[in-house]
Amino acid sequence: MENQPQPLVPPQRLPRPNEHCWCGSGKKYKRCHQSADQGAPRLAAAPVTAKRPPARPIKAGRVSPRRTVPPHIPRPEYALSGRPGDKAVDEIMTGDRLERMRRACHAAAQVLRTVGAMVRPGVTTDEIDAVAHEEYIRLGGFPSTLNYHGFPKSLCTSVNEVICHGIPDDRPLEDGDIINLDVTIYLEGMHGDCSATYLVGHVEEQSRRLVQVTHECMMLGIAAAKPGRPVSDIGRVIEAHADKHGYGVVRAYCGHGIGERFHTSLQVPHYFEPSSHRRLVPGMTFTIEPMVTLGTWDHRIWGDGWTAVTADLQRTAQFEHTVLLTERGAEILTVLPGEKP
Ligand code: MF3
Ligand code: CO
Ligand code: CO
Repeated sequence: MENQPQPLVPPQRLPRPNEHCWCGSGKKYKRCHQSADQGAPRLAAAPVTAKRPPARPIKAGRVSPRRTVPPHIPRPEYALSGRPGDKAVDEIMTGDRLERMRRACHAAAQVLRTVGAMVRPGVTTDEIDAVAHEEYIRLGGFPSTLNYHGFPKSLCTSVNEVICHGIPDDRPLEDGDIINLDVTIYLEGMHGDCSATYLVGHVEEQSRRLVQVTHECMMLGIAAAKPGRPVSDIGRVIEAHADKHGYGVVRAYCGHGIGERFHTSLQVPHYFEPSSHRRLVPGMTFTIEPMVTLGTWDHRIWGDGWTAVTADLQRTAQFEHTVLLTERGAEILTVLPGEKP
């Protein structure tokens, strides 16, 4: 059984509810992939089968010992326990809270610029983590991911088929890789969260296009956020743009409200979710962070409990900004003063 190749994407003709699932699990279809397939009628028949599998799926490397943060740096509530506090906090940012939020977001953008400039073949993600860690501290902030639900490192590094939450380790980046660096800082009592996907050396056309379109998806999502409109407007335009290019949109991970808490109860799906009918209100701060896939949007989690990869091991890209909803629309906070997003 071990060596038998499993179909990782739904076939064109789907099983009946009581037949065995197409994935080879041995379970009835209705107890396995049926609801997921129904969520993505067009993706089920998408051209995923026609695309070639990646040459080499990435392997986990060794994770270095936990880095420490000097005692003078203020810590989020979960820094010791690993357990974040209540998600329900005042969602409307004004006055001093908003000013602190702006500074945290600027700092996140600054750290992302610094680590983004390190990306080249031969650099390990652990080396990137070390630089990010020092940079947060130099700015007076704490690495938000460190011990968040037990996450062991100071940023997420997600290579090729890794959707998100990749753990920095001793794997050197290879020519042709793509890598998302996801930076979050806790500064002045607020979290600022942003990420970007970078090309490592010479990257083939198909991946470059994926990265480009994913960035367009994020920017279209940001442009769609308007006061009085439902949250679902954001995912609607993102999904439509990805769909136009034959790409998938990851459903398991969403954008989120952010501020005193890393993740508040506000969820921002990147696909059209009609039940996300909450209206956007000026003063809300949240992220838009679409994960877009060459093939299926379905995912698997590695044995480390964190690393999320595409189920078909095809590549995926992501970009993220933290935004402030204003009367005119979404203002991007995770940019440097005077910089174009
Ligand atoms: N930065 C990620 C986000 O955009 C969250 C990382 S949580 C961690 O929401 F625990 F994986 F670090
Ligand atoms: Co992030
Ligand atoms: Co985020």
